[in-house]
Amino acid sequence: MKFFVDTAHIEEIKKALAWGILDGVTTNPSLVAKTGRRFDDVKREILDLVKGPVSLECTKMDFDGMLAQGLALAAEGPQVVVKLPLTREGIAVCKALSDKGIKTNVTLCFSANQALLAAKAGATYISPFVGRLDDISEDGMALIADIVQIYRNYGFKTQVLVASVRNPVHVLKAAKIGADVCTVPFGVLDQLFNHPLTDRGNEQFLKDWAKVPE
Ligand code: G3P
Repeated sequence: MKFFVDTAHIEEIKKALAWGILDGVTTNPSLVAKTGRRFDDVKREILDLVKGPVSLECTKMDFDGMLAQGLALAAEGPQVVVKLPLTREGIAVCKALSDKGIKTNVTLCFSANQALLAAKAGATYISPFVGRLDDISEDGMALIADIVQIYRNYGFKTQVLVASVRNPVHVLKAAKIGADVCTVPFGVLDQLFNHPLTDRGNEQFLKDWAKVPE
């Protein structure tokens, strides 16, 4: 399973890159707004740092506007993945961009039928939001299992990108189901390292090492 970090904060991306386990980055308008910076500046810095896929989201909602925005974003670098909403216009733009060989990520997916539409439109990635489904007492990870099964049934190439991840259990379940990608907030990525027995064991090894004669 590939790990993307779900952030527009440059420092978080730098830290995750330094760990050597980062495959890509996803952003959205809310994450960009949280930085308090201009989108153009944030986008340039991310694209200068990250060679793997970087999802940048369209904010125009009409077909022509979204297509023009998607084409402009794609021209920013070979690693750009154009993020599109799961609307009628978003799916139509997905088809148009996919036909041109441009990578796309269809976002705000909350049902398996929506994921089917994205795959038929040639999306590179589908982003089902597990945390937001859990928030309304639905089972976000059950949706991932359904989409993975449906895509396998028909041999769709669209990659399942688990989004709206809130905790390490989401990551574990995504990997067990066989999702292609998990996009993880920096804090959750950091949590994946933790185990009390690792810390305790390491402390003991270092104490014992200090007793070894030079
Ligand atoms: O990038 C989309 C997604 O990961 C948003 O997550 O926590 O705002 O539901 P969240």
